[in-house]
Amino acid sequence: MTVTLPPDAEGITEAARLLATGELVAFPTETVYGLGGDARDDRAVARIYEAKGRPSFNPLIVHLPDLVAVERIAHVGPKARMLAQAFWPGPLTLVLPLRDGAGISPLVTAGLETVAVRVPEHPLAQRLLRAFGGPLAAPSANPSGRVSPTQARHVLEGLAGRIAAVLDGGPCAVGLESTILLADPEPVLLRPGGLPVEAVEAALGVTVATGGDAGKPTSPGQLASHYAPEALVRLGASEARDGELLVGFGTVKGTLTLSDSGDLVEAASRLFQTLREADRLTGPGGRIAFAPVPETGLGRAINDRLRRAAAPRG
Ligand code: TXA
Ligand code: MG
Repeated sequence: MTVTLPPDAEGITEAARLLATGELVAFPTETVYGLGGDARDDRAVARIYEAKGRPSFNPLIVHLPDLVAVERIAHVGPKARMLAQAFWPGPLTLVLPLRDGAGISPLVTAGLETVAVRVPEHPLAQRLLRAFGGPLAAPSANPSGRVSPTQARHVLEGLAGRIAAVLDGGPCAVGLESTILLADPEPVLLRPGGLPVEAVEAALGVTVATGGDAGKPTSPGQLASHYAPEALVRLGASEARDGELLVGFGTVKGTLTLSDSGDLVEAASRLFQTLREADRLTGPGGRIAFAPVPETGLGRAINDRLRRAAAPRG
């Protein structure tokens, strides 16, 4: 059951309480409705991918109430600071270097060393972020491949029964996702969106290069090579061959495991840390074998990521 929460103090308190227990709550921003979960909680983030039925782990945007909160998790360079001061709160997302020990789930950043952050302007988003008191990972609140929702009703059409609640703030003013930028050292547009690129150019006094749509081949392609482990990876293994470290799943037991009980949410939540741990244990030139993971639900995204890890390196 997905409850609709009213846009008042009680609704916000309940939304923050649900989020603190690892549940998912859709909430309005000025761009589109976001599907929020605690960005520090691996399982909550895994459930976001599950609820959307995303076939791959694209990195998610982290929402925070202000620049001070952003600086606790990311390094803000000079151009990023100018843009933050000019356009936050608002429909601008900045991709910034992640701070060590920021506490953001590696599933949010897809194992990258950068994090996409945004300070939304919508008063309900602001009140929710302050009531929750932590970073919220939030992609658009629609099933993968469908259009982004700009009303609570749209969220329910796609996700009813898959999330705990939706905070009803009426229609979104912008109706288009945020503009995504890499600001430093030189600005690159990763996704055009609610903030016109001309406004960014005027604020910085420089031309902005176009890096393609952050959600399309350019960045996921780069992500794949970014996150290849050093070890060689074999998939669909029922047991370890000589010199291999086996990562188990369900009935296939390994030195490490994605999920002993064969739970796909748990497996997704542990995926990036397990890849890192296996890589560390085997070292350069080592070999890692992964037990088969079913190609259903979150298993599709897990297998997509594992296939990238196993792909031949150029
Ligand atoms: O308006 C919006 O931005 C909405 C509302 C809810 O805030 N959110 C949204 O999130 O559109 P989502 O998850 O649908 O879009 C995230 C985009 C993806 O295309 C992803 O590739 C890019 O952000 N992204 C996230 N982290 C990144 C990173 N570290 N480097 C490059 N691109 C990144
Ligand atoms: Mg989207």
